[in-house]
Amino acid sequence: MTIDPRLIEEMRRLLTGRVLTMVPLRDLTSFRIGGPALAVVEPCNVEDMVNILSFLAREGLPSIVLGAGTNVLCSDEGYRGVVVKTGSLRRVAVAVNGVGLVRIEAGAGLGLTSLVNLAFRHGSHGMEPLWGIPGTVGGSVAVNAGAGGIGACDFVEELRLVNVDGTMFFLKRNDLEFGYRRASLPPGGVVVEALFRFPQGDVSESREALRYWMRMRKEKQPWRMPSAGCIFKNPTTGDSAGAIIDRLGFKGISQGGAQVSPVHANFIVNKGGATAEDVLALIRKIKRRVNEEYHIQLELEIQLIGMGFERVDHC
Ligand code: EPU
Repeated sequence: MTIDPRLIEEMRRLLTGRVLTMVPLRDLTSFRIGGPALAVVEPCNVEDMVNILSFLAREGLPSIVLGAGTNVLCSDEGYRGVVVKTGSLRRVAVAVNGVGLVRIEAGAGLGLTSLVNLAFRHGSHGMEPLWGIPGTVGGSVAVNAGAGGIGACDFVEELRLVNVDGTMFFLKRNDLEFGYRRASLPPGGVVVEALFRFPQGDVSESREALRYWMRMRKEKQPWRMPSAGCIFKNPTTGDSAGAIIDRLGFKGISQGGAQVSPVHANFIVNKGGATAEDVLALIRKIKRRVNEEYHIQLELEIQLIGMGFERVDHC
């Protein structure tokens, strides 16, 4: 499983950013799980992104886009394609106007928590629950990552995207529909920059709210353990996935190096040496049991890379 060296040379010629080969996905993901990707490319600016996406489309090379890799489970066999990593797209511009608004333009690779910190430093209020979500701006907008009843898309004014064929386009807030862990981005469209609008508010209230959310995350979630955040989406009605899984006694259950977190039952953590197979086995056990007990089909929140959803569906 390799990639034609001429294609690698061509990608190096097209990009100012790095092009690497046979990179273990465990090094690119918060779960620390996954075999090698044939190549990883790191566009440094929008032009790089346009160049690489049009090249990949022309050559018919399979590709995926990865931000901080915090919401994914990668196959142990790896990914037979090119990973486009957005982490180097970190351009930031802040504008504060006189009517109590902070506008922040952020590259897709900026960490969401860095964005929240920046917004706070400029006096904005309301985005505090997003503090501590480990993903990037691009990934967070693409899945409308959220906490405490708000999502990253709530603050979006405009998105700049690059299409699979390499064309660039903009989406205004009104062009977007978003809901719980969902945003209506066109298939294949990659977010490269986002313009956020945050209202300004009382600084001491914001500080208190930030402290509260920091404490919540550190106390209620397995903060320091490698994981992919919550594994399942919450059911649309009734109890949260974490509460249901907890009630069924799964906390602390292990499979190989993977364990249902003893802190929060909707997290699976990598205790060391966990494989994707270990995690999938736990996911299947949980889904089957929840279905038997409550007739609820839990839906994955994480994305699977290098494998299909048939691995966990119909449990
Ligand atoms: N609960 C349990 N046992 C557990 C976990 C939770 O009984 O093991 C109970 C809690 O006591 C609480 C209820 O379930 O009464 C809800 O728990 P929590 O406040 O932790 O919220 P959640 O619905 O489990 C959601 C998001 C998190 C986000 C938190 C905080 C989803 C799937 N999860 O969790 O997001 O950080 O709210 O707002 O929507 C993520 O998306 O990766 C993620 C972790």
